[in-house]
Amino acid sequence: MSDSHQVKSNQQRNEGYSDLRDLIERFEEMGEIEKVNGANWNLEVAAVAETVAAQDPGRAPALLFDNIEGYPEGFRILAGGANGLRRLAVVMDLPDPETEMDLVRSMRRRMRTKFEPIPPLKVSTGPVMENIDRGSDINMWKFPVPFVHELDGGRYIGTDDLVIMRDPDTGWVNCGTYRTMVHDETNVAVWMSPGKHGRLISDKYFKRGEDCPVLISCGQDPLLFISAHQEIDPEVDELAYAGGQRGRAIEYIPSEVHGLPIPAHSEVVIEGTMSRTEIREEGPFGEFMGYYASNASELPVIKVERVYYRTNPILTLAVPSRPPENFTFARATVKSALIWDEMEKAGIPGVKGVWCHEAGAGRLFNVVAIEQLYPGHASQAAMVATNCHAGNYAGRWVVVVDQDIDPSNIFDVVWAMSTRCDPPEDVQFIKRAWSTPLDPLLREPPWQNNRGIIDACRPYGWKDEFPKVAEASPELKAKIRAKFPQLYK
Ligand SMILES: Cc1cc2nc3c(=O)[nH]c(=O)nc-3n(C[C@H](O)[C@H](O)[C@H](O)COP(=O)(O)O)c2cc1C
Repeated sequence: MSDSHQVKSNQQRNEGYSDLRDLIERFEEMGEIEKVNGANWNLEVAAVAETVAAQDPGRAPALLFDNIEGYPEGFRILAGGANGLRRLAVVMDLPDPETEMDLVRSMRRRMRTKFEPIPPLKVSTGPVMENIDRGSDINMWKFPVPFVHELDGGRYIGTDDLVIMRDPDTGWVNCGTYRTMVHDETNVAVWMSPGKHGRLISDKYFKRGEDCPVLISCGQDPLLFISAHQEIDPEVDELAYAGGQRGRAIEYIPSEVHGLPIPAHSEVVIEGTMSRTEIREEGPFGEFMGYYASNASELPVIKVERVYYRTNPILTLAVPSRPPENFTFARATVKSALIWDEMEKAGIPGVKGVWCHEAGAGRLFNVVAIEQLYPGHASQAAMVATNCHAGNYAGRWVVVVDQDIDPSNIFDVVWAMSTRCDPPEDVQFIKRAWSTPLDPLLREPPWQNNRGIIDACRPYGWKDEFPKVAEASPELKAKIRAKFPQLYK
């Protein structure tokens, strides 16, 4: 990395970051991306993405695959785009962080002080319209659609994607990340968990006796992916949410068939109609909790009517797997900030940090640090963190710790659980919560699970008399670091 790049702050780098290609160039300048030539779409691309990300969670490079076997040069796949500490800061337009909690804090600061959704801006054309396949030109195998895990039921073009639908009653446009399997040249399917907004919307069309219009963006700016895969409130358009994070409107072009918003700078966007009558088998698929947890099922077929794509398109790939996964660092960071924000809005004082651990796939093991201010505070904080919108779906554990514990440091958290938590007193349960067929502990509907909340704070009644921590004091640490600097990083 050159000196001039080292001294630039992320704030400066972000000015004018226009689309995925521009972002990839910036990642190259930062030394944050590796190019991989000659991998096969059949298992190799995904296995490389899975294993490289797992080697160094939150610090591994993004991967850009080219010359994929059987495909022309230029038909590329990007994996793990925003899944690194420094890259995520660029994508979210935040100052250069040193730690996970720096990122969470700066994101939260923005949400508290100057975040407003910015409605997307309609434009007449954009790079995604460079190529439009219609009728007999449509062939999904034109793209290097990866076969992701060894026991999958098919090839998935959508993992790091945006499924865009319009609510037929209100006109609200929702973007969600839902996996998209290719059946054949002209048919695909998306899998949506019960309660997900896309599922609620498609159900509305089907109840009216209508098919459901849909767009699927399969390669785009990671900011759009992040906005689509977080639990953003219903009735909020994720394109507007992303615009608010970026500080300028996301441009869109109305699609030819259904008039849905095509992100103008996307790389590949499929337009189609989800049938209420025609079904085909989808899955199984290796999933984010680390298992092939649900079997193949019959899902509505989506007939592809248009494919819009840039010349030399870039698909984006997320690989759900045994954690850490090649998207869980970004998910954990953004979700931590969202949960913290919701806790504050619910009136919980004294929250000092939130971290959704990657070992829990960024959802299943979430830790909240508080300054205990009154009896019952820890329990209240845990209940809200468990039940708020950003934290509720498919959770399992919430741990509350004192403010001297760094919630993102698993050593600190396990130490607090081991020494400040009396299990029969301090572990509570929440039953019948919102879960998913992807939960390996669930075998049949309804897809509800149970949660544990752990109070690992010093007991409130005698917290001030709790034994002192046996650790060199900050003054003593500073003194010996100054005297023996060669011993410390
Ligand atoms: C890589 C990745 C893949 C995902 N795949 C699915 C999926 O196939 N089906 C699903 O229901 N949710 C999936 N999710 C979770 C949803 O994207 C997430 O719950 C989001 O909030 C859905 O949008 P919605 O809240 O507008 O429904 C995935 C998330 C990620 C990060």
